[in-house]
Amino acid sequence: QSNSYVKKWTKEDIASTLPRRDRFAHKGTHGKGLLIGGHKMPGSVVLATKAALRSGAGLITVATEKDTIPIIASHCIEAMYEQWNHFIINRNDVQRFDAIAMGMGVGKEPFSKDIMNNLLEQKEIPIIVDADGLTHLKPLLPIREERIAPVILTPHFGEIAMLSGKTISEWKRSPFFLAKQYAMTNNVYIVLKGKFTIITCPDGTQYVSDTGNAGLAKGGSGDVLAGIMLSMIMQNQSITEAICNACYIHGKSAELLVESGQHTEYDLLASDVIDGLSQVFRTIF
Ligand code: APR
Ligand code: MG
Repeated sequence: QSNSYVKKWTKEDIASTLPRRDRFAHKGTHGKGLLIGGHKMPGSVVLATKAALRSGAGLITVATEKDTIPIIASHCIEAMYEQWNHFIINRNDVQRFDAIAMGMGVGKEPFSKDIMNNLLEQKEIPIIVDADGLTHLKPLLPIREERIAPVILTPHFGEIAMLSGKTISEWKRSPFFLAKQYAMTNNVYIVLKGKFTIITCPDGTQYVSDTGNAGLAKGGSGDVLAGIMLSMIMQNQSITEAICNACYIHGKSAELLVESGQHTEYDLLASDVIDGLSQVFRTIF
């Protein structure tokens, strides 16, 4: 086991690192984000998009299957839409985005390698890979050193087991040690999600976020986290701060919704976590 120091991300850390809104901001100030997914499960991208928009993102574009666009658009009127293969045909068009999140709701069936390769080749754009996107990313790991911007993986224990070829129980036994090894070998950030979320940087530095409650143990809460994280990355120069703040905010929303009596851990839904973001931001500023 590694005994190296792991920093817990606190209220003080978020208060000092969450970027304040510029009074003269325009929508471009807070970045342009791209969300790719929802082909199989449109709801996942609805959640991620709403969460990103509720976390301060200036502009969000959703790229998905043609027939899925109207479904997602009917729930997220503030976002913009593209067919996802637009970004295969016009490879360089992804360069107009400051950050990308992909993989939620894409399904496990073979999925275009072209788009995954193209995203990884865009060396300067940070990319979050979540959910089934992890299955499609696996054969392309490790991330090459030439890629300047980070690749951030957000697996739960089942997904990290699939990626690493080790079992869930091995991961449960030594999550810090294995995450460090995995992140350093594959040149990725690993956000290992669970009761505690362990954030590991490609250099092996580790943080832990302990906000949240069992109300989050429901389908969809991971999608909300991915959306918040995309938004935080668009607004913060420091990737580590952005990731840790996203994990803190996501869990804190669930905590405040239960503590304030608005919900219980039984009835809390992922969409409520988005509604709770306002309360979280009010307690930070
Ligand atoms: N305490 C604190 N936080 C929790 C808890 C808990 N007891 N349980 C879950 N969470 C948090 C995690 O830290 C993470 O941020 O909720 C989020 C859950 O994310 P995911 O595991 O990615 O869940 P999600 O993708 O929304 O739904 C599960 O994953 O395995 C697949 O197919 C499965 O559709 C299912 C999906
Ligand atoms: Mg998930």
